[in-house]
Amino acid sequence: MTKTLADLRSRRWFSASDMRAFAHRQRIQQMGLRREDVLQRPVVAIVNTWSDLSPCHAHLRERADSVKRGVLMAGGYPFELPAMSLGEVMVKPTTMLYRNFLAMEVEELLRSLPIDGVVLLAGCDKTTPGTVMGAISMGLPTIFCPAGPMLNDRHQGKTVGAGTHTRMFWDEHQAGRVSAAEMVHLESRMTRSPGTCNTMGTASTMTSMVEALGLALPGSTSIPAMDSAHTRMATTCGERIVQMIWDDLTPQRVLTRGAFMNAVAVQMALGGSTNAAVHIIAMAGRAGVSLTLDDLDAVARRVPVIANLFPAGDKLMEDFYYAGGLPALMNVIRAELSLVELTVTGRSVGDNIEGCNVLDAEVIRPLNNPVSTGSSLAVLRGNLAPNGAVMKASAASVKFFQHTGRALVFDSQPQMLAAMSDLNLDVDENTVLVLRNAGPVGAPGMPEWGGLPIPKKLLLQGVRDMVRLSDARMSGTHYGSCVLHISPESAVGGPLALVQTGDDIALDVQARTLNMLVSEAELARRRAVWVAPAQPFVRGYTKLYQQHVTQAHEGCDFDFLQGAAATPEPVIF
Ligand code: FES
Repeated sequence: MTKTLADLRSRRWFSASDMRAFAHRQRIQQMGLRREDVLQRPVVAIVNTWSDLSPCHAHLRERADSVKRGVLMAGGYPFELPAMSLGEVMVKPTTMLYRNFLAMEVEELLRSLPIDGVVLLAGCDKTTPGTVMGAISMGLPTIFCPAGPMLNDRHQGKTVGAGTHTRMFWDEHQAGRVSAAEMVHLESRMTRSPGTCNTMGTASTMTSMVEALGLALPGSTSIPAMDSAHTRMATTCGERIVQMIWDDLTPQRVLTRGAFMNAVAVQMALGGSTNAAVHIIAMAGRAGVSLTLDDLDAVARRVPVIANLFPAGDKLMEDFYYAGGLPALMNVIRAELSLVELTVTGRSVGDNIEGCNVLDAEVIRPLNNPVSTGSSLAVLRGNLAPNGAVMKASAASVKFFQHTGRALVFDSQPQMLAAMSDLNLDVDENTVLVLRNAGPVGAPGMPEWGGLPIPKKLLLQGVRDMVRLSDARMSGTHYGSCVLHISPESAVGGPLALVQTGDDIALDVQARTLNMLVSEAELARRRAVWVAPAQPFVRGYTKLYQQHVTQAHEGCDFDFLQGAAATPEPVIF
């Protein structure tokens, strides 16, 4: 399948002998380019999620130059296109509210401009699924160039990183064991370079899964952002996309069900973020591939966690890179992979990982010495979550795997946060904390409020984990016995809306169940008087979001963006 110049999509803009094409060539030359730059070369978009307020992507402006070098060397012409930069920590109320916005922006950027192929520069939690979802829907040859993880830090002789340690140090500070002065020091040290979080949080989970899908170069997602290998990798992405355009190597040829199941197997072996459950289902939906929570649970039961990375383990992404990175990990679980799947290299998954050996078996463990004997992810169902809920079993306390406790229910995040510092709160370590109205519609945007803090009263007693339930998500860098993504969410009338403080909640991870021990008659009585919470958003993007977002088990995509049906090319006149 080889394309010629005459087949290029960009020719529709530039090669006709009419007034409109004349104007297009004129405007290209207005910017100092030569007419042959766009008439004799494929046009490559570099979609860049860099911004001055996005520390994870702070280096991507420079990396775009490396990509451009590769594109030019391979005979293409690059154009850098800025896209919404969703830096996880700064963007409020939550980047998840804008993932679909970014996906729409990427799709329509590519559709509306004379582009033949695309390099996606992204890496923070939502920029990866957002850009990839948009590129899948547009369907042009696409390669993902990951931002790469930040460097490790050292504190008092120990390796520390972002995310997981942030929560750990904050809890210790609340318990009086870390001083204010030490916290000020940590502020300036823990995130010591540009790049994404260096735990196996959502960012590294998603970039790794995109590599496993076949959309990124083998090994690219483990390279630290500040390593010179990262610059070289960006140049190679630029080079590679040009050949992919000639070969018409589109996402549709790469993204089979086998490719998605490979990505899920990698998620489980990594002990990856629960957020991936939402994003991978949304991505599959864009590719027209059926993927459900049950698929994830089935893989989780088979594939052990072998990456010894925070929060399930005790190493960081830099260590993972030195240990051989994702190709080495995929080689360990090769029996669980579909090795024939095509990738952006033009070769199969099996070819890409051949001979990629583990260089440090403490970081990437052998199958007979996993980090966790339980599964990475558990999908729970019951009268509290008829459509499913997820739990990161590998980061939870085993003592809570079978637990019944009294519910303490909060209707909002502010109400919950205010209660956490109350030293007289009616709570003990067996209590089940419940947060609702924190789902896709209710919050809105399904923020990462699901890692509910431990009440200060219990922190002072030494308690560091308890069972917590919500229709929210949780940061992939966090840990604890948190049941998340309860679907349907409370704001649309899911059973979570009916729980009351004092109800007994029964969790059984082994049996994959989550129930409130309340009679059907009582639940019917509560349902009859339930009133949906008022929503203040009467206009704008948030209104659109609430009207069209799907539930967590469906990927939280917009209903009108799902599916692989083709959108007509723009009319050029
Ligand atoms: Fe961007 Fe963690 S905040 S990757």
